[in-house]
Amino acid sequence: MLSYTALIDDATKQLYDTTETPRIDSEVLMQHVLQKDIAWLIGYGDTFATADHRKAFYDLVAKRHRGQPIAYLIGRRDFWTLTLTVNENVLIPRADTETLVEEALERLPKDGRIDVLELGTGSGAIALSIAKERPLANVIAVEYHNKALDVAKQNGQVNNITNVEFRLSDWFADIDQSEQFDLIASNPPYVEPNDPHLQQGDLRFEPITALAAPENGFADIRNIIEAAPSHLKDNGWIIIEHGFNQAEEVAELLRKNGFSQISLHKDINQLPRCTCGKKSAVIQKAIKR
Ligand SMILES: C[S@@+](CC[C@H](N)C(=O)[O-])C[C@H]1O[C@@H](n2cnc3c(N)ncnc32)[C@H](O)[C@@H]1O
Repeated sequence: MLSYTALIDDATKQLYDTTETPRIDSEVLMQHVLQKDIAWLIGYGDTFATADHRKAFYDLVAKRHRGQPIAYLIGRRDFWTLTLTVNENVLIPRADTETLVEEALERLPKDGRIDVLELGTGSGAIALSIAKERPLANVIAVEYHNKALDVAKQNGQVNNITNVEFRLSDWFADIDQSEQFDLIASNPPYVEPNDPHLQQGDLRFEPITALAAPENGFADIRNIIEAAPSHLKDNGWIIIEHGFNQAEEVAELLRKNGFSQISLHKDINQLPRCTCGKKSAVIQKAIKR
């Protein structure tokens, strides 16, 4: 008979070559099996493990050993102030993307009835975070994949956030021209399809349709930036997440499409991560002539 702590010690050794955080991964998997927090493990970890718990734990450790992401194994990931359900139909929300949420909130007044569009919502991470912080905002979150949209809707319900409308749409295809927004935010697929990182780590298990885009990763970014001006109110903002090495091209696309006040923002690892641009009424009218 082994204690819960002894099982964690053993799994930590097994996962040594699989992950940079074998101890934490093992503890998180055990917490998931036991449905207990880390304080319980610290206090009662020397309790003998039941056979059922041992089997459930080692099943998860074996999957982790094959590379499956922790978030999919435990079915959730924390993002901003929310705990979100995730599964293999959605991208696992990244802490890097909180930069985009911060920049969106900087530009959205707390007390106004503002209209926000998120394109490619996946788990709903961005739309739900903005909606929670701006309860008076009307947020529309679109997604191309039904199964991903189901996850986003579930996350809205579980987190009791009622000011997001989730809509199936191929980018702007099902956004009516009469729907005009103060801010459009998107973390679109932007990885170059031949990027070797797609064959490594968590990315191997995430939907390729959430990650990779043609034209060296720029096809979706370009589509969104080109179509955005006609869906933005005058002085409305666009915020696009992109790869750390795509900032210059994104800024150039924004300039070409009439955006001004273009600014680049870094993520928690100090890497360039998202770019903002403002639709200037004057420039848009000049372009139309
Ligand atoms: C990089 S993931 C971002 C997910 C989520 N917003 C986040 O930041 O964690 C891109 C998302 O865009 C969706 N997507 C891809 N092509 C799309 C399209 N043509 N129209 C709408 N959504 C699309 C993908 O299914 C995926 O959920």
